[in-house]
Amino acid sequence: MIGIYFSGTGNTKHCTEKLVHLLDETAQAVPMETKEAVEALSRQNFVILAYPVQYSNAPVLVRDFITNHAPLWKDKKVLCMATMGLFSGDGAGCSARLLKKYGAEIVGGLHIVMPDSICDVKLLKRSAEKNRKIIRAADRKIEKCAENIRRGNYPKDGLYFYDRIAGLLCQRLWFYGKTKDYTDQIKISDACTGCGTCTRLCPMGNLSLKDNRASAGNRCTMCYRCISACPMQAITLLGDRIVEQCSYDKYGSA
Ligand SMILES: Cc1cc2nc3c(=O)[nH]c(=O)nc-3n(C[C@H](O)[C@H](O)[C@H](O)COP(=O)(O)O)c2cc1C
Ligand code: SF4
Ligand code: SF4
Repeated sequence: MIGIYFSGTGNTKHCTEKLVHLLDETAQAVPMETKEAVEALSRQNFVILAYPVQYSNAPVLVRDFITNHAPLWKDKKVLCMATMGLFSGDGAGCSARLLKKYGAEIVGGLHIVMPDSICDVKLLKRSAEKNRKIIRAADRKIEKCAENIRRGNYPKDGLYFYDRIAGLLCQRLWFYGKTKDYTDQIKISDACTGCGTCTRLCPMGNLSLKDNRASAGNRCTMCYRCISACPMQAITLLGDRIVEQCSYDKYGSA
């Protein structure tokens, strides 16, 4: 078994590592953007594929990872896990459908509610206490799920037809344009000091330093990793001002 995850602010990393270790202490969870993920995918028969939901869809990087390695999915057993701030309808189902197209057997779908990673939109922010509570509930759900899987009962979150209708009507129909392709909408303010943190972290190599300032290209997969990590709060995407930077580590150890 292997866990392959994409995670912008750490939520999906935590959930994948927890589920994988509960199921098999010797198994590993690896980030999707690394070479190890492809190597592991070719070797293992059971994959937990995990990612944060974006507008009830999988991030473009995740859809590309699936498509770019299409031949490797044939006959793999896959559990699709989607983390989300609130709701996604068929967050797990949207990658499951793509994987099935390439010959994977979908054994389950799992939806885990975690703190919302969009840190430049006030409406989506919750208190630290609320976020800790959300993480505790998520951990309980993962523990229960691992217990059930050990008994051969896989969760089916997001895999039913009505989940697909919910995901479509509540989000994808209206917001598909935002996640259809990589985006060029990253904004970097004059507060940037050129420290290079964001350029080291971006999974897409979308950020570079020019004349001691960070500069963004058109390959952003909207993961909010750089936005949450910039020490000067100089990067925004959907909003114009940072409300509170997000990271699983901030709440998770409590
Ligand atoms: C661009 C974007 C769109 C999002 N869309 C949704 C959504 O449609 N529904 C939802 O419940 N959460 C949504 N979220 C919240 C994330 O899915 C959630 O916080 C996730 O756990 C982040 O995981 P990560 O820390 O592994 O990146 C969105 C986050 C981002 C950055
Ligand atoms: S992390 Fe922030 S301050 Fe550092 S280079 Fe990137 S935008 Fe500039
Ligand atoms: S530019 Fe920032 S938000 Fe976009 S992919 Fe890179 S790290 Fe993620």
